[in-house]
Amino acid sequence: MAEATYIGNGDEDAEVVPLRPRPASTGLDAIIVGGGAIGLACAWQAARAGARVRVIERDRPGSGASGVAAGMLAPVGEATWGEEDLLRLALTSARRWPAFAAAIEADAEADLSYVESGALHVALDRDEAEALDRRHELMRSLGLDARRLTPTEARDLEPGLAPAVAGAVEAPGEASVDPRALVAALVAAFDARGGELVTEAEVTEPIVEGDRLVGVRTDDGTEHRAPHVVLAAGCWSGALGWLRGDARPPVRPVKGQVVTLRGSVSDPICSRMVASERVYIVPRDDGRVIVGATVEEQGFDLRVTAGGVYELLREAYRALPDIVELELEETIAGMRPGTPDNAPLIGRGAMKGLMLATGHYRNGILLAPVTAESIASLIAGDEPDFDLGAFDPTRFATVEAGG
Ligand code: FAD
Ligand code: GLY
Repeated sequence: MAEATYIGNGDEDAEVVPLRPRPASTGLDAIIVGGGAIGLACAWQAARAGARVRVIERDRPGSGASGVAAGMLAPVGEATWGEEDLLRLALTSARRWPAFAAAIEADAEADLSYVESGALHVALDRDEAEALDRRHELMRSLGLDARRLTPTEARDLEPGLAPAVAGAVEAPGEASVDPRALVAALVAAFDARGGELVTEAEVTEPIVEGDRLVGVRTDDGTEHRAPHVVLAAGCWSGALGWLRGDARPPVRPVKGQVVTLRGSVSDPICSRMVASERVYIVPRDDGRVIVGATVEEQGFDLRVTAGGVYELLREAYRALPDIVELELEETIAGMRPGTPDNAPLIGRGAMKGLMLATGHYRNGILLAPVTAESIASLIAGDEPDFDLGAFDPTRFATVEAGG
């Protein structure tokens, strides 16, 4: 196994990234722009397959959406009309999650808090019950594992549910993971596989030779060269001015606010994920309870607002009234990398040497295994084992060339 190298620009976070100062290697196989769950998962998977990989992150790992996500691995709950290709990708990735989690945990010697708890979708009035019926019909028509429950059956499963609950659908196969633990473990696993992580370095320029992208330059002037550059810059992927206009993906930020509460480990407020039309509640095994999330088209905006927090707590209270007894631990906002069709961009880009792994919108944590395995295959010169046709990064008409 190659030795790991850490290259930082100063104020390294030694808690997260083991410091092993050694000279930077030459002869990289791939550079990955962005140290979120997607960039790190691709990097770790490629390094695991024997590639020499460098991740360049302008802040710290997980400082984007991956550090805010609730961590639901919920292909059934996220299924919606007209997104069958995305559903197939999501179901494939969900099936790969147990092995993916076990392999990261083994490399990192860390726990991801991967829990197969299942989820309960609840309706809290008659209108919501009608909407839930329609969603249940959709789930059944797509062959998904989802069972309609009466209010009594729902309360038998989750005694903390409000008496007003008017109906429920159980999705027993859904799971969750702690995304911050995932990022930290991916950093350690990548390091264990000989990967290089550069933090606090922003990619600001491409290095182009002929018609090929052969590397990138960071804001400190350093050149990083490799035959493959993978863009995994989350919601910023569409705003990278240094990338040629026709190669820049139409990715936009979609804001989501989240509230974290602290409850009892021995007497949790719920034992599975509980979701209504307007809110979801994800219990963690350490007593935290994640309440998410708003969906706001606000551009690049990370403000936590009184209205956002109020709406989340009000809707969480309607589902699980005891939530008001819990301690308020954190309020935070993140930006999902949204795309015009809500599906990610995975594969070769519009320039030779460029690959994309971005635009995962609401499902980047869920889609990490299938994305990482696909990108690692492409870096190795192999075809991915999942047909990525519907997720081709060049499928959209893009911004004017030459920008
Ligand atoms: P990010 O995590 O945003 O990482 C991108 C990184 O690129 C950042 O660290 C950034 O600093 C870096 N970067 C940007 N530009 C540059 C540059 N020029 N040079 C170097 N580095 C750069 N998904 C799920 O599957 N389940 C959920 O339950 C879930 N809940 C969510 C709840 C909320 C509120 C939000 C906001 C998202 C949620 N998501 C969820 C979606 C998920 O968080 C994202 O799809 C996923 O984290 C995207 O990962 P990423 O690595 O592509 O992006
Ligand atoms: N997948 C949950 C969210 O994006 O809020």
